[in-house]
Amino acid sequence: MSSPQAKSKGKPLLLVVISFLAVLPWHTLASGGGGGGKPLVTAVTKDGATKLYTIAVKDGHPLALDLSGELVWSTCDASHSTVLPYERECVEANRYTPPSCWMQYGGAGGDYRYGNKCTAHPYHGVTGKCAPGDLTRTALAADATNGSNPLYPVTFPAVASCAPGSLLASLPAGAVGVAGLGRSDLALHAQVAATQNVAKKFALCLPSVAVFGGGPFVLIFPYSRPDIMQKLSYTALRRSPELAGGNGGGYYITAKSIEVNHHQVPLPNHGAPLVVQLSSMVPYTELRPDVYGPFVKAWDEILQWPKKVAPPVAPFELCYESRTIGSNRLGYAVPDININLEDGAAWYIFGGNSLVQVDDATACFAFVEMRLEKAGAGYGGGGAPAVVIGGHQMEHNLVVFDEEKQQLGFSGLLFGLQTTCSNFNFTVAA
Ligand SMILES: *[C@@H]1O[C@H](CO)[C@@H](O)[C@H](O)[C@H]1NC(C)=O
Ligand SMILES: *[C@@H]1O[C@H](CO)[C@@H](O)[C@H](O)[C@H]1NC(C)=O
Repeated sequence: MSSPQAKSKGKPLLLVVISFLAVLPWHTLASGGGGGGKPLVTAVTKDGATKLYTIAVKDGHPLALDLSGELVWSTCDASHSTVLPYERECVEANRYTPPSCWMQYGGAGGDYRYGNKCTAHPYHGVTGKCAPGDLTRTALAADATNGSNPLYPVTFPAVASCAPGSLLASLPAGAVGVAGLGRSDLALHAQVAATQNVAKKFALCLPSVAVFGGGPFVLIFPYSRPDIMQKLSYTALRRSPELAGGNGGGYYITAKSIEVNHHQVPLPNHGAPLVVQLSSMVPYTELRPDVYGPFVKAWDEILQWPKKVAPPVAPFELCYESRTIGSNRLGYAVPDININLEDGAAWYIFGGNSLVQVDDATACFAFVEMRLEKAGAGYGGGGAPAVVIGGHQMEHNLVVFDEEKQQLGFSGLLFGLQTTCSNFNFTVAA
């Protein structure tokens, strides 16, 4: 099912209708789904090779999740419809174009209003590559949910960008594009909110499930079935410092300190807040070099008892013989890490998220140093975030991105509640 506009190409009468529709509010234009005000749920799959997460919402084909992505993009059939340059979605698609698109082909921005179809600039969050593509109308599908089971399938119209097949490099095998979940009206959750009449928020329970539109969120527990949405801590969501006031960028929070085993890591931030980004395109948390050094040193000084593996397994710097580390219900029994957030809450990282099993016998400290080109010149100063929380550290935590309240909600490691993100009941309720 596609929106009525999809078939309008070249028909003058319909063009008039579209120009009229273009002045209506965004949701009026985009409405037409059949979700009946229910949130949508979709299974998430983690790709072993790339460590990226995908959801199969595009004719059953996977799209990779990108928390900083502005667009939904995929390869297209030759017969795809095109959005017109003066339609609202085209303006939205061109509101923010990553600077690297300009550098790669100089074509970004500026001229999208002219000609007979809208050009967008899909961006690949891992390779940093960009390519021009037609903005098109398509259909995506997921299941309505009551928070504990899928209920029935829902197909909804969506605006997406086409992309050349070459832009798929470094995505999981079989993936046909990216589902952007960033701060734009063309991000997937914003389009679900507009078409399904649900809240502009989404929840990730990596590596297994994503919910668009709000709670409750119930997992199979051994004893009871609490709504995990009621058990979240909250912190203010911020926009990228470089894009302050702009529409681009992903999700940022701010911290005042980092602790290992409740001892503050000495960081050269001179009292300025530490900017922390959340990224689904980074497999392991990255720390800016000025933060990584003291952080790893603090960890290494405290975690003395396990037997180290030398040399460590790349890309990690500290690896241990896993049989020499104890375990508890939060994973390996290792020092806690707290990221103390500016507004009082703390993002705790326990053994289940701080170490990663790299083979049967070896577990590594799952943090890496940010590459210098990403960290930018003069890393104290405003360029790169101090910390980019990656996929591994979000796994088995419920993380809720609420754009309406500009809040991030997070559960902490669900092992503490004796469940995991793999315990969503995907059996369709009768
Ligand atoms: C999963 O949901 C189905 C449908 O509601 C239900 O019959 C089944 O008992 C649930 N499974 C568990 C383990 O709770
Ligand atoms: C969702 O629907 C299923 C099947 O009707 C029911 O067992 C379950 O309790 C419902 N969950 C919520 C949170 O309403």
